[in-house]
Amino acid sequence: MIKKIKVKNSGIIKLQSYDDFPDGNLTIAESRKNIPFDIKRVYFINNLFNNKSIRGKHAHKKLKQIIFCINGHFTLNLDDGKNKQKILMNNPSYGIYLGSKLWHTMNKFSSNCVILVLAEDYYTEKDYLRNYNDFLKYIK
Ligand code: TYD
Repeated sequence: MIKKIKVKNSGIIKLQSYDDFPDGNLTIAESRKNIPFDIKRVYFINNLFNNKSIRGKHAHKKLKQIIFCINGHFTLNLDDGKNKQKILMNNPSYGIYLGSKLWHTMNKFSSNCVILVLAEDYYTEKDYLRNYNDFLKYIK
């Protein structure tokens, strides 16, 4: 996990965790407390058995999300159009704020990796910028 975010429209979100080792670990996310928006949608990604797969490869026009790795690990690659940053996601208590206009890809998944995303709005394909050059034009 990283200490400092260098790209725009991002940040580190720390969740409160209770470590009851060896009886489990409990971690809490609450809207408007440690999550800076009202959560309208939650989705998770699992069965990441292809360690060569690359997910994401898009930015959002408006949507704000927070991404967590709640099991295993993966690499999150952020690009604000100017600065790039790679983040090893391997700690369930730390999320990364994916603001709008932030190109992101995910790769190098461990097979036990589970990604959890909290989103401030419903899914709409119209909000996606799926072409990198369109993204660069959009943020100008
Ligand atoms: P996508 O956001 O491109 O996944 P990733 O960024 O992890 O690579 O979504 C993959 C597919 O799932 C795409 O066809 C859109 C669909 N989808 C929904 O229908 N609803 C959702 O909430 C999300 C996140 C995706």
